Amino acid sequence: MEHKKLKQFSKDFLWGSASAAYQVEGAWQEDGKGISVWDEFVRIPEKTFKETNGDVAVDHYHRYKEDVALMKEQGLKAYRFSVAWTRIFPKGKGEVNQAGLQFYVDLVDELIKSGIEPVLTLYHWDLPQALQDEYQGWESRKIIEDFTNYATVLFETFRGKVKYWVSLNEQNVFVSHGYLMATHPPAVQDIQRMYQANHYANLANASVIKKFHEMQMPGMIGPSFAYGPNYPLNSDPKNVLAMENSEEFNAHFWLDVYMWGEYPLVAFNYLKEQGLSLEIQKGDRELLTAGKPDFIGVNYYQTSTNAFNPIDGVGLGKMNTSGKKGSTEESGTPGLFKRVENPFVERTNWDWEIDPQGLRIALRRLASRYRIPVLITENGLGEYDKLTEDKQIHDQYRIEYLKQHILAIQEAMTDGVSVLGYCTWSYTDLLSWLNGYQKRYGFVYVDQDENQNGSLNRYKKDSFTWYQEVIRTNGENLG
Ligand code: BG6
Repeated sequence: MEHKKLKQFSKDFLWGSASAAYQVEGAWQEDGKGISVWDEFVRIPEKTFKETNGDVAVDHYHRYKEDVALMKEQGLKAYRFSVAWTRIFPKGKGEVNQAGLQFYVDLVDELIKSGIEPVLTLYHWDLPQALQDEYQGWESRKIIEDFTNYATVLFETFRGKVKYWVSLNEQNVFVSHGYLMATHPPAVQDIQRMYQANHYANLANASVIKKFHEMQMPGMIGPSFAYGPNYPLNSDPKNVLAMENSEEFNAHFWLDVYMWGEYPLVAFNYLKEQGLSLEIQKGDRELLTAGKPDFIGVNYYQTSTNAFNPIDGVGLGKMNTSGKKGSTEESGTPGLFKRVENPFVERTNWDWEIDPQGLRIALRRLASRYRIPVLITENGLGEYDKLTEDKQIHDQYRIEYLKQHILAIQEAMTDGVSVLGYCTWSYTDLLSWLNGYQKRYGFVYVDQDENQNGSLNRYKKDSFTWYQEVIRTNGENLG
């Protein structure tokens, strides 16, 4: 579909950027903070790239004022960040740790003072280790109550100040990495446990959304979902069916539950056929239906191209976490689909496919299936960046990437999608969970090398100035 004229961005469009607590804060044991599952996981040999961890990260905990000052200078309209549950409740529940809560009160005040809308994520993967030890975290129904209590403290604290809330970040990623690939904590490979944990996560997600609405919180809440639209390799019906399978298992399996309170038909039937049984209680359906989001947050990085995968076909394959182009192994789900290379798009050094039109397709699919506004909660390019001798970073490749994605958003808006805002990933450079510090995403370069050495000084990249102009002209001048 081509339009003669593209729709303009509304004047309240949220030109934003994002981060997550574990990836930026550091200060892992300060002011009463408890230990999270990530604090433990990164200490297991060979789990992360060069054994990097978030002990110091990019020291945002101590430098948040400097970071917010940079956001203000850039003209940022929104900043998405996550709260570390272990700062509020060091053991996941019990007494509130006021010192930990104060950090976020100060951060939110600083943002508001600077004219920046805070977008608060309740959960970006750093589960309190105490809850993992006590009842295996997401594998118990007890998590629903504890997560809701934790969220309620934040709702009460930030009522009227924070208007945009993200419930769970990428539930599809944290359950599959945590319980299928064993690349995130709790590093389990057990499909039954994965689907069970996922069911409780669905309930916890619905429970906090329901609570938000019951408390008549001003603003909107929704989950952030990692959505990469699926394409078929070609029009061979076998490959088209593989694409359908992938869309059903990788997207509808979560999104239908968020939006309609029920699992998609084909996928649910397939799980039963595989002998998997979920512990679903009377009342679960009601809770899922009652916790309907106000928007869908989408984290978009790339699309997936799918081909037929026989029942004895390829299974899990290693991801490229080294930055060596071409090192991604083939992967798929036997009997359902396998991922193949898309010959029409370029790839990053981490083999992520660069596909701006995929974002337009993602936005259209989400909006037309669920009839709901979308907030782009993450999108960005992870690449090697070079600090020159005169402290410049010429990241023209990132500018080009972001520009094409913004155009795709504008096209999707013109197609009829309601887009609330665009949060790039990420604001400053930060710790990539599995790829360490060499894979950079920020507008602001942080002097922290892959061996965790550096001054932690901040330097503005060329993309900083470019986005500043995009925001100033409300998307009219994309450079
Ligand atoms: C998303 C996460 O999956 O992708 C972020 O929400 C993450 O936390 C981002 O950093 C980029 O992934 P990676 O692996 O390149 O750091």
